[in-house]
Amino acid sequence: MDKTPAEYWNEKFSATDDLIYTETVNRFVEELASPIVAAKKKGKVIDLAGGEGRNSVWFAERGWQAENIDISSAGLTKFLAFAERRGVSEKVFANCADATGFESVLYPVDLGVVAYLQIKQESLAEALECLIDQIKPGGHVIGVWHSRDNMDNDYNGPRDADVRPSVATITEMLSGLPVEIEVLENRDGQVQTKEGLKPSVTLVLKAKVL
Ligand SMILES: C[S@@+](CC[C@H](N)C(=O)[O-])C[C@H]1O[C@@H](n2cnc3c(N)ncnc32)[C@H](O)[C@@H]1O
Repeated sequence: MDKTPAEYWNEKFSATDDLIYTETVNRFVEELASPIVAAKKKGKVIDLAGGEGRNSVWFAERGWQAENIDISSAGLTKFLAFAERRGVSEKVFANCADATGFESVLYPVDLGVVAYLQIKQESLAEALECLIDQIKPGGHVIGVWHSRDNMDNDYNGPRDADVRPSVATITEMLSGLPVEIEVLENRDGQVQTKEGLKPSVTLVLKAKVL
């Protein structure tokens, strides 16, 4: 029998004490969120599917309250230990829930971040709608994914196209929602493989909630 997503991610995160996705904030999250964090000293952020919490901890270290909402209890346990090591336990919240339907303990928040939540497009649409629902008017949503565009030449990320959004799928998902897209584009990058550096394409989103 196939594993559920929660079983898959719990096994993956439990297999090692190391942080699989590192302790370092994702570079696109850092780039897109830095001006927002610089403009507001004590904001609130939902890190949707935040896993081991590299992005949540980055916000907490900058004085923000960060709620990591993830389907994996094992990922969240590692996140809480990581936050404690960094001395930001009082700033963070762990919420074990499915991205397609959750209630934030920090509602309403200034910012929603979703990084590498690679799920079917129908589910991603539900997750984005739920996330945007919890963000204050004037707040922002930031997204980062392995892009479907240029998938043939892309060496990392899942091989199932339906779990990789594109500019077109995200545009359609957001079309009926109260947001104004500020950035939605593919960024070229490189990944280290056994055969050396190979190209990768990352889809990034920044939108303002109306
Ligand atoms: C590739 S990891 C990315 C973790 C984190 N955002 C980061 O950038 O380090 C994907 C995360 O999505 C979570 N996830 C997968 N499906 C989910 C769902 N339906 N609801 C909530 N979280 C989910 C997994 O548990 C995992 O933590």
